[in-house]
Amino acid sequence: MSVPVVIAVDGPAGTGKSSVSRGLARSLGARYLDTGAMYRIVTLAVLRAGVRLDDTTAVARVAANVPLSVGYDPDVDRAYLDAEDVSSEIRGDEVTKAVSAVSAVPAIRARLVDLQRELAAGADSVVVEGRDIGTVVLPDADLKIFLTASAEVRARRRNEQNVTSGLADDYEAVLADVKRRDHLDSTRKVSPLRAANDAVVVDTSDMTEAEVVEHLSELAQQRCGVRP
Ligand code: DC
Repeated sequence: MSVPVVIAVDGPAGTGKSSVSRGLARSLGARYLDTGAMYRIVTLAVLRAGVRLDDTTAVARVAANVPLSVGYDPDVDRAYLDAEDVSSEIRGDEVTKAVSAVSAVPAIRARLVDLQRELAAGADSVVVEGRDIGTVVLPDADLKIFLTASAEVRARRRNEQNVTSGLADDYEAVLADVKRRDHLDSTRKVSPLRAANDAVVVDTSDMTEAEVVEHLSELAQQRCGVRP
């Protein structure tokens, strides 16, 4: 790519956001930044510290000093808590259940938003994936995408992923969790999940992952002049 561009990809869980953002970064030869992984690493540290999730002062205190790092390669999951590779552990049930509460703490968001801005800066193009990238973290992004899909479609996709990775087949429980997380993410006071006014909203309910990547890649070419 000749001109470096910044692309924000936001949306709720289960829209295919992660696979699609990785695919887009790959197709454009851009870096990939998974901001959800950063909230997950902090959540793991909070859980390990044994503080109560509703004690937001204690949660924020633990989070303030978490030595975290993530990678930029769309093909390699690289999430570190200090020197420990926690890439698998942060995707587990325990972290997934607790992460909404932790990511709602304003002091934690403030620290991670600063870090995300630092990590997104640089001479190379980047695809940044999250919930508030287009609205808060990078409001000047060259292209903002907001992915959506019905709660049922998102739950079905997540349940299929669970089954593939050896977890229980329980669509109803997954659907309930999808709705619970949607509610928490869209009603929290700081940076609620919503599309930026200038975001392109893409409903992925009836699209394959490859179709979404192709569509976004075309948008990046039309709007930012990038060439894959
Ligand atoms: O995308 P994910 O499921 O890995 O995100 C984990 C959690 O972090 C999810 O509950 C929403 C939250 N999150 C956030 O609040 N802001 C972001 N930029 C990214 C994730």
